[in-house]
Amino acid sequence: MQKKNMQDLEQRLEQLTAGDGLALIADLFPGKAVFSTSLGQEDQVITQLIASQNLPIQIFSLDTGRLFPETLELLARTESKYKTRIKVYYPERESVESLVTDIGINGFYESVENRKSCCYVRKVEPLKRALAGNEVWVTGLRAEQSANRNSMKRIEWDEANQILKYNPLMDWSFDQMTAYIEEHKVPYNPLHDKGFISIGCAPCTRAILPGEDARAGRWWWEESKKECGLHAK
Ligand code: ADX
Ligand code: SF4
Repeated sequence: MQKKNMQDLEQRLEQLTAGDGLALIADLFPGKAVFSTSLGQEDQVITQLIASQNLPIQIFSLDTGRLFPETLELLARTESKYKTRIKVYYPERESVESLVTDIGINGFYESVENRKSCCYVRKVEPLKRALAGNEVWVTGLRAEQSANRNSMKRIEWDEANQILKYNPLMDWSFDQMTAYIEEHKVPYNPLHDKGFISIGCAPCTRAILPGEDARAGRWWWEESKKECGLHAK
């Protein structure tokens, strides 16, 4: 997309609510906009916005093979509530087998390098397949989630995946999101009621303590920037 068109689109989206923005994107990129859900609270809001308007945006999820049972149960519950199919992508079998042979079943605890290899095989590569052939990638990123995300925009060009990335909840606050979930009776992960905020793979996510950063429970043993490579800048 040309710079000028990109600026126009950015301005239009700024005037619109998240729901209207999603409708505009579905309209401008027919059959070419897809939404990735991790079944987190942000993603559940977006699923509600897409499903309630019956927008032709394919919803997909990346099943790493290490998710919490509660997350997969929520996926099933979400499909039945919205009478929709969430397309699930899996890692390549051979890559998982060599990874596990190489680093061990829980080798991601041993080094950042091992952890990144695991995230690559289980999430980043499947994401590339899910995005292939599409023009817009919708995500549940919010600026408030971390310093890194604070510099992201509502719509931006994702160089790594060569796709337009639309983050409709970019400027939503945590309270706004939970109020929306309550008001619209959006199904959510029961782990949120047990102190989990940001939820990823089971071995790499823990509950957070009051006052801790929302993403503190992700890869908690690492000091470095807590990103898995899906949203690499
Ligand atoms: S992560 O990079 O740390 O794993 P996070 O859990 O905050 O990301 O989620 C941010 C956004 O990334 C979600 O709103 C969703 O769009 C996408 N995402 C993350 N994990 C997955 C997943 N397993 N399947 C599909 N999308 C995902
Ligand atoms: Fe592997 Fe943990 Fe990354 Fe999941 S979050 S892909 S288990 S390193």
